[in-house]
Amino acid sequence: MDFTHPAEDNRFDHAGIVGRPMERRDGPLKATGTAPYAYERHDVVAGQLHGYPLGAGIAKGRITAMDAEAARKAPGVRAVVTTLDIDPLPISDDNTARLFGGDAVGHYHQAIAVVVADSFEQARAAAGLIQVSYAPDPVEADLEAAFARLQGTGEPSTEVGDVDAAFAAAEVTLDATYRTPSQSHAMMEPHASIVDWSDGGDMTVWTSNQMIEWACTALADTFGLDKERIRVDSPFIGGGFGGKLFLRADTVLAALGSRAVGAPVKLALPRPMIMNNTTHRSATIQRIRLAAGRDGKLTAIEHEAASHALPDGKGESSTAQTPFFYAAPNRRVTEHLARMHLPEANAMRAPGEAAGLMALEIAMDEMAEKLGMDPVRFRIVNDTQVNPSDPDMPFSDRHFVECLERGAAEFGWDARNTAPGATSDGDWWVGHGMAGAYRGSPTLDSGARVRLEAGKLVVETDMTDIGTGSYTILAQTAAEAMGLEIDDVEVRLGDSAYPVSSGSGGQFGAVSATSGVYAACLALQDRIARQLGVNAAEFRDGKVIAGDTQTALADLDGPVEAEDKMSFGDFKSDYKVATFGAHFAEVGVHRGTGEIRVRRMLAVCDSGRILNPLTARSQVIGGMTMATGAALSEELATDTGRSYFVNHDLAGYEVPVHADIGRQDVIFLDTLDAVASPLKAKGVGELGICGAAAAIANAAYNASGVRVRDYPLTLDKMV
Ligand code: MOS
Repeated sequence: MDFTHPAEDNRFDHAGIVGRPMERRDGPLKATGTAPYAYERHDVVAGQLHGYPLGAGIAKGRITAMDAEAARKAPGVRAVVTTLDIDPLPISDDNTARLFGGDAVGHYHQAIAVVVADSFEQARAAAGLIQVSYAPDPVEADLEAAFARLQGTGEPSTEVGDVDAAFAAAEVTLDATYRTPSQSHAMMEPHASIVDWSDGGDMTVWTSNQMIEWACTALADTFGLDKERIRVDSPFIGGGFGGKLFLRADTVLAALGSRAVGAPVKLALPRPMIMNNTTHRSATIQRIRLAAGRDGKLTAIEHEAASHALPDGKGESSTAQTPFFYAAPNRRVTEHLARMHLPEANAMRAPGEAAGLMALEIAMDEMAEKLGMDPVRFRIVNDTQVNPSDPDMPFSDRHFVECLERGAAEFGWDARNTAPGATSDGDWWVGHGMAGAYRGSPTLDSGARVRLEAGKLVVETDMTDIGTGSYTILAQTAAEAMGLEIDDVEVRLGDSAYPVSSGSGGQFGAVSATSGVYAACLALQDRIARQLGVNAAEFRDGKVIAGDTQTALADLDGPVEAEDKMSFGDFKSDYKVATFGAHFAEVGVHRGTGEIRVRRMLAVCDSGRILNPLTARSQVIGGMTMATGAALSEELATDTGRSYFVNHDLAGYEVPVHADIGRQDVIFLDTLDAVASPLKAKGVGELGICGAAAAIANAAYNASGVRVRDYPLTLDKMV
């Protein structure tokens, strides 16, 4: 069905199963180890052999020779496939780095061989015996040098008014440059696949992937197969964060290994290979200029940023929010991609805004201080209900000011000490900071199939659950639509045999996939009504009610099945659909060491209808925790001479957990955005990371009086 008449659909507006806090259905399975992750699916196919990858030891150049003889003769080894054995595999639309094949190396740890053996240990030992000779090319990996070169060049992506005149006339200005480092998704479950391509014909893939349909398409393109011959199955995923949006080397190597040995092969990327073999969030350098009158109203905003990308790559669009967030009549936004020989920069949770707001929201704090204004007030003064870059494209719904005011009240903002370095608790300086949050909220077309039999409903869709709660909210949606109890609904996900969904990414998963299940349920209602010979029927309390006739769904002749998809066509493109929020943080900065501890955090979210306050809260505090890492510890250290990330494991790349943070609270405005989806919901999974790192940085400044513009805020920068 097409999504066209949103405001007229009020069927979810009463308090029902949708909107109720419900625990994740997969929670007990995951907590007890009975939800198998990709590498643990020992039962799906017999005779699984073990693959182990080898990564390139240079960042750019050619492989002049590979000697795999010793590896082939090693105990237990069934086959070795080297990159020189096959033609370069095509680069699909979604990958900007070549995954395998040919002699060219485009980035460090690009896969160059796979060993298949009877055991994991044998495969790993044999991989270490492969001798590789390289002819390296010069590399470029210095973003500082690139930004110095690129600054002032190129066309702005947004230009409104006369920025230069506004700065010349401004009463108060700010001009500051901020740096965010490259970051890794660092999800708990590594990329892993079991592939059965034994006869080189039909291919079955058990893997960990956010986007089933994209994976099928990429596999078909990569191996020249008909999509119908490929099955991808990914029911449980141990985190993705954007790192599993695309086909990666684990699947490709397992497939090539399987074809070579004529048996199914399982392969996980070893943790030390993930940071350089797969994707990451690019570092950014962002120069931000703000101009304002003494009244605190911004008159101009300029944001010029650079990130790194492979020759055909995407980088990190850190200016993403700047055209839309704050009012100002004059605005210029410019984005540079520095072509570099680092691994592939690509989407990581809230690609664009997550890095962009780390800079913009410190700049707003600095400007508020220059103006002698409260930072909350400064943002309220510069809110707008009119899209500042395109007045003809209105916001569907925007409650940023309400987020700021609710947050300030709940957090006790008015009681904070406004003089930096003036509040202590023992050996710790204590400070408070806040930041605004903005994140786009797209939707993708999403389909589902529903089948009712003996009063039980089965929902099937290739939607994934990356730890977000998809199983749970889709069951809630179907139960509510069909008037069933939640326990009468079974949800099956992640299999390409099911109808194509949005998949999980870009905080579009929950809003899109629930819409698809809703569409399928409406189709099922139609079918049931037709079966009963009525035009319209109501579904509640396990019954279908038409006029004076009530029939229990359990008594219908069955099974009754329907499939449909929600198509978000032209209607939404007239609107700017986005989510808004406000973050508040209290930190302690140790007087002696400069160590920063986050004592409490609060987020207020304007994300449309909240489908399940429990799973939504978990998403937001997960984002806040990830933002804490971005603020304080996470950094892929770049070796600019050799063009690779040095700290490529979880010992050197430090990720915080909830227990590192004193207290985290989330408030949802629970607004209804009728433009966003039939359920009037929007994304929430990425809003939590947007702005939260800047709130911590601003709190650290308020605590210590040290202003750091260079993330992460490590101890050395605080003294
Ligand atoms: Mo998200 S970075 O699109 O999984």
